[in-house]
Amino acid sequence: MIQQHVLAVLSALLAFSGCGAGLGKGAGAPASASADPGGAEGSRRNPFLGVNFFLNPEYVADVEKTAKTLPSDADVIRKVKQYPTGIWLDSIAKLALLPKWLDQARQQQQSSGQPTLSVFVVYDMPNRDCASKSSAGELRVSQNGAARYRTEFIDPIAAHFKAYSDLPIAVILEPDSLANLVTNLNLPACDEARDVYVDSSAYAIQKLGLPNVSIYLDAAHAGWLGWDHHRENLIKVYKKVLKAAGGVDMIRGFATNVSNYTHLYNNDGMAMESSDPCYNELVYVKKLAVGLSDHGIRNKGFIVDTSRNGKGKIRKVWGNWCNIKGAGLGERPRAAPEPFVDAFFWIKVPGESDGTSDPSGPRFDPDCASAESATGAPQAGTWFQSYFVDLVRNATPPL
Ligand code: BGC
Repeated sequence: MIQQHVLAVLSALLAFSGCGAGLGKGAGAPASASADPGGAEGSRRNPFLGVNFFLNPEYVADVEKTAKTLPSDADVIRKVKQYPTGIWLDSIAKLALLPKWLDQARQQQQSSGQPTLSVFVVYDMPNRDCASKSSAGELRVSQNGAARYRTEFIDPIAAHFKAYSDLPIAVILEPDSLANLVTNLNLPACDEARDVYVDSSAYAIQKLGLPNVSIYLDAAHAGWLGWDHHRENLIKVYKKVLKAAGGVDMIRGFATNVSNYTHLYNNDGMAMESSDPCYNELVYVKKLAVGLSDHGIRNKGFIVDTSRNGKGKIRKVWGNWCNIKGAGLGERPRAAPEPFVDAFFWIKVPGESDGTSDPSGPRFDPDCASAESATGAPQAGTWFQSYFVDLVRNATPPL
């Protein structure tokens, strides 16, 4: 039964995207973002196919700085500079940098003569990170956060994306937010945000759903929502959001494993949570795709964050998420590597911290001082050099 569903969804996906397994960076037919006529075009094809990826010069500089301090590892560290990462728009102030990034992407597009895709993580939801502390954001539901999110955050992003209509863009919308509505409504900050997360997501989808933009909603990971009832409930949340946003064609798909460590292929999950049928990330993607299809959300593509899931068996507790020790860079960013998957991509910026390990620091979350977390970690989003070097040394496949 499941097998039949898998085949049906797979053939529809292949027909839609024209993709096959194993295509790498730059492979496939050249895409032309500007040739997309409009409306929901950004949802109809895999935007990762046939494009180059924008390399963020700031990230390249962080990597180079680290290479200089460690001559013995410098050659292998420098290899990381060729891979793209997500660019996180995580505050209103950060938007001041957006035109610069888009200009740089346009320059890379012009000099390579290839469409050049940028991947932005849109991440400033009111009551952000409602179930944890380390990535708490600047907007609060109780302080007019929903209105500010629209006018001070989403509207300006949409205006910039419109001004660069020649650039293909992928948006990963608000990691963790909708998943928190599935499992964490017992927590006051999540309960307070339940309608705001839905309405704000719908608003963002409507505004950012431009011809050159492909939107992906966050879908947590196998170790969070892998159980059948959680997947069902997640799909219910998506249906609500997509109905409010104007329909299932408004988005291209879903992003999983964002900032997490769940392995793509092995059976780690069986040891950590034996009742979870999704024992790795690709099993999760497949089951979710089938469930979505059963509910009328068809022909969607997935992006899987492979920035830090190269090595398996690094955790005993699947729920631990903060700067997990022993992690290594995972599969390199590339298009259409597996059925259902638009891309493997380094969405979390490898080398940036998940949160401070200092109990006296602001936004300290106890998970960042767990026995499985690296010590000496700075604030979320800041460069954690020793952790980056470990990711490089543990890279699987090796760099
Ligand atoms: C942080 C963001 C950061 C992102 C990428 C998140 O955990 O909250 O501020 O930009 O990671 O490193």
